[in-house]
This record gives sequence, C-alpha cells and structure tokens, in this order.
Amino acid sequence: MHLARFPRVRLFPTPTPLEKLENLTRHLGGPDIWIKRDDCTVVATGGNKIRKLEWLVGEALAQSANHLVTQGAVQSNHVRQTAAVAARFGMKCSALLEHRIDTNDRDYLNSGNVLLDRLFDVAIEYRTAGLDMNAEAEAKGEALRAAGDKPYVIPGGGSNRVGALGYVSCAQELLQQVDEMGLRIDHLVTATGSAGTHAGLVVGLEGCNAGIPVLGIGVRLPQDRQEANVHRLAEATADYVGMRGGVARSAVVANCDYVGPGYGQPTPGMTEAVLMLARLEGVLLDPVYSGKAMAGLIDLVRKGQFRKGETVVFLHTGGAVGLYGYNGVFDQAMGVAFGGKVVRAEIPMHGKVSQVAHDGKFLFAGLTSPGLYLVRVMVPSDLAPGPQKFQITAGAARTPPSLVLMVGPLQDLEDFECRPAPGKSGFVQHGACWLRAPA
Ligand SMILES: Cc1ncc(COP(=O)(O)O)c(C=O)c1O
Repeated sequence: MHLARFPRVRLFPTPTPLEKLENLTRHLGGPDIWIKRDDCTVVATGGNKIRKLEWLVGEALAQSANHLVTQGAVQSNHVRQTAAVAARFGMKCSALLEHRIDTNDRDYLNSGNVLLDRLFDVAIEYRTAGLDMNAEAEAKGEALRAAGDKPYVIPGGGSNRVGALGYVSCAQELLQQVDEMGLRIDHLVTATGSAGTHAGLVVGLEGCNAGIPVLGIGVRLPQDRQEANVHRLAEATADYVGMRGGVARSAVVANCDYVGPGYGQPTPGMTEAVLMLARLEGVLLDPVYSGKAMAGLIDLVRKGQFRKGETVVFLHTGGAVGLYGYNGVFDQAMGVAFGGKVVRAEIPMHGKVSQVAHDGKFLFAGLTSPGLYLVRVMVPSDLAPGPQKFQITAGAARTPPSLVLMVGPLQDLEDFECRPAPGKSGFVQHGACWLRAPA
C-alpha cells in the first residue's frame, strides 16, 4: 500500500511509544501486556483522532477549505482534537455537540473536553439526542457554504475512508516497530466506536498479511451492528488504498459485552480498569473508550481467553481529558469524601439516580425525577440481619429532587442499592463505588 499518494499533514513524531506494562502483566498473571501509546500523539493532549486528522486535514487543505465542521457527543475527544488542529492551521471550526447522555452533571457539561473546546475557540451548537448527527453536520456545512465559507465536513469520530488511513498507517508503523524490537504479537486489542480506528488497523494488518488478529471492544452498539459498521468501512478503505481482494468479514471481530447500560455510562469494570492502570502503571485511561476497552481486556485475561505466554498489545486511544467530565464517578470510586478506612461497596445505580454521596451520617442520592424509590442497604451479617428495605417518596421540593436516607453508622455500610419501586420509572444507569468509612 502506497499511502504517500494521499495528501497529509504531519502532526506528531512517530512511532508512538510501545511499552510493556510490567506491573499489570504481573498483577493479572496472564499474557504479556504491552501498550501502544496513541494517547501520546502530542496535539491537545493527544489521542487517536490526531492520526485521522493528518489525512482529513491534508485533504481539507488540498481542497482549499478554511473551516472544519464536525460533530460528537458533549464530551467528544474527536471534537476537541479537531478544534485544536483547526487552530493550528488557522482554520475556523464549528462543532455540533449531541446530548447523547441524559445528565445534568456540571462537570460532564462544562469540564473536560468542553472546557478545551472553548479554549480552542470552536463555535459550538448543541443538538438533542437521537438525531442523524452526520446529516446535521452536512447541513451545517451547507449553511456555511451558502454564507461564503469553504467548509470541510468531517464525520463523527473522523471515521470515513480518509480518516481510516491514519490507522492503516498506524498498523504499518506498529509492524515496523515490533519487527525492529523482535517482538511477536499474538493479539491487538483496542476500543471500537465510530469504527475508523478498528477498520484502518484491519486494513493495514491484512494488507501486510501480518497474521495479527484485532479485537475491538465496543463502547456503544451491539456486536452485529458494530462489526457490520467496521467491515463496511474496512471494505471502503481497502478499495480506496487499492488493496486487492478486500477484507474478509471474519477479520472483523468486536466484543461488545463491556458497554454496560449505554454509551458513556460508567461501569464497575471501567472504574476498576481506570484505577488499576493509574495505580499500577501511572497510565491514564478514559471513562468512555479506553477504560471500557481495558475493562474488557482485564476480564478476558481473567477468563483465560488470552493466555500466559501470549503477547497482547493494547492500543491506547487517549481520551483522559474526559476524566474531568466524570469527576463524581471517580470521587465515589475513591471514597474521597469520606476519609478513613476503605469499605468496598458496590452501588448499582439504576434509572433515575444521578449521584450518590455521603456526609458521614446520611446517604444522599440525587434523583433526576421525583417518585417512589425502593432502597436496599446491606450491612455485614455480624452487625445486622441482611438487607433492609426502605420505601421512600422522594420530595419534589429540591431541584433536582434528592433522596436522603439515614443508614446508621457508616462502618456498617457494605452494599447499597437504589431503584425505583415496581411500576415506576425505568432503569438506565449502573455504577460502583468504594465508600470510605470514617476511621
Ligand atoms: C479516546 C477514544 N478512544 C477510542 C475511540 C474510538 O475510535 P473510533 O471512533 O475510531 O472507533 C474514540 C472515539 O471517539 C475515542 O475518543
């Protein structure tokens, strides 16, 4: 494959580092786990979109565009990276942010990627969930064109055949890197969302007959739809680069068992993975993509799908800026508010519960709507006889309405579950936390 035929700008030095995760490997006791640091692609704290943008912006400049238009979720890493690259090339940037997650959380709405978008001076417009966001971006591009600008519209995640070239070239880079190191790879694992990363890697590796299977860990769609999207884009990309014979459907494999309740919704596996990589390796993952992908890798090692003696490379796609948009989740996970000894408490937060906090005496759950809630508090069996149930009508007096529940001495709290009473509003969220009881 001869990629130099396509226009490109250079945004970061290659190759990105490839490092062994010695402590994680030892901790899990399974395969040798390595990490390809595409979180280190330099621009605006890096991430996988920078590779795609090298080719997308190359094409935009070849078309004399002066305005990048794109879209993503509110905490989109792709939008943040696009905005930064636009600034670097003196282009304007417009972004449509979809309220894909139903939340009023201040950090999610204002911090993390949103804060950086503002620093890069991107013109933000918001959209409600469920629209065809690529069509919205095209319509925005049309409006800008009619007003005399020269827009270049980038689809969500930069995932089209041009953006996917970034990961065709990453596959080539990785092969050269491991050949020089004398490292044999058995599996490559990465997050898969809008599909460009996964599709590009498959095309790059298949095109070189590398014999390295790629496992994409899904973050949004069910497996059949994710694999179909990745395969469609891989075929288009293979055709674009002139790869004969296309891409076999069997070369596209996704595992979508780690999405949890939905896109961008925290899972216990994600919080565990983020904390594990931070504390064992000093590596920052993100809550939406790499955290869930690593949760999948950890679980598959525990289940024996990846075995001792094998070498697994985890492609880190970046996104740690998103951690600032999920402050509350990690506050809870670390028990920051409580001080003293750590008690592990699984907190499945279903449905309309947005936040759970503790002030040493009371347990608070911020509810997004008033209603009748059933709360179950488990205390250690030597202190009290099993789960206690409380029926609570959340008052509408507070905004948002809050549930306030006295749970007795904090040391006794082991497990807490809050869910709407039968017949009341549905469940959508799931979370876990470690409460820190007072010393
Ligand atoms: C940090 C991070 N990892 C992974 C992905 C998924 O990559 P792709 O959209 O190419 O499937 C994204 C996409 O937004 C991302 O921001």
